[in-house]
Amino acid sequence: MNYTRREILKHIGRGPRPGPWLADRLGLSRNAVWKHIEALRERGFEIETGEEGYELVGVPEFGGAAVSYGLAAPYEIRYQERVESTNDIARDLAAAGDSDVVVLADEQTGGRGRKDRTWRSPSGGIWMSILLRPDLPPATVPLLTLAAAVAVVEAVAEVGVEARIKWPNDVLVESPDGSEAKLAGILTEMAGESSRVAWVVLGIGVNANVDESAVGDGATTLRALVGDVDRRQVVQQLLETFHDLAEDTDRILPAWRAHASTLGREVRVDTGSETIRGTARTVTDTGALVIETADGERTVHAGDCEHLRPV
Ligand code: BTN
Repeated sequence: MNYTRREILKHIGRGPRPGPWLADRLGLSRNAVWKHIEALRERGFEIETGEEGYELVGVPEFGGAAVSYGLAAPYEIRYQERVESTNDIARDLAAAGDSDVVVLADEQTGGRGRKDRTWRSPSGGIWMSILLRPDLPPATVPLLTLAAAVAVVEAVAEVGVEARIKWPNDVLVESPDGSEAKLAGILTEMAGESSRVAWVVLGIGVNANVDESAVGDGATTLRALVGDVDRRQVVQQLLETFHDLAEDTDRILPAWRAHASTLGREVRVDTGSETIRGTARTVTDTGALVIETADGERTVHAGDCEHLRPV
């Protein structure tokens, strides 16, 4: 959404504002104000015209304009109802030189998970990819992935869901019987050289307003846990928390530790080349997992982690 429309919404969201007042304030003609108001109405904003002027009385439920409105993070939201994969679109935007863009969709037809797995993404979910060009060495990019997981946990907490992070970035919900179901996942893709990151795409999938049966085994959804949620609010909260952490990377690990359920647990990590079993002790400054095994300590930078129940 452009600056002028954001400003108009800000003013008319505070109470009725006469057209001439808005025109004066924003340096526009009255006709231009009217055109912007009409365009906002077409995007789903409910704007009443009364004696005292224009007043915002309703915000669209979801979409680019809805998420942009009132968002306290500097991202441009590009929304499409149905896409193959928001990560693919974000990668194309990266190749075109864009940054600080969030690609958001209601449905993905070719959602991708880690290790080339399919990520089921029916209509009603939160499927999004954040494109950044951070001024960070490549070794610290995993921290952004951890920040994204923290942001998801804190956003779903606002709608009453207590989730925890399984190293590195699976967001899980624990049942009373101790079993865990996956609520959200993160797929990070990047390009750059050994000393500099060119771009990072953080693909975040939150199973939101969808049936549990539509997301597959071992997964759960916000709908199943608490009923349908305001996706606009969840996305805004998530992006704002993520942005704050990305701006102050020293806060990421303490926040991650506070929300993680892996530390102190018996784990089995499949790195692709070997399987390491032991007790997860800590994470390093770059987010690698330190495991105490029968043969001593091992540090794992990436892999599939499984929480093992105590024997
Ligand atoms: C995982 O395997 O846990 C990661 C899943 C990541 C899914 C998200 S949904 C938005 C973005 N677009 C994709 O195609 N994948 C990621």
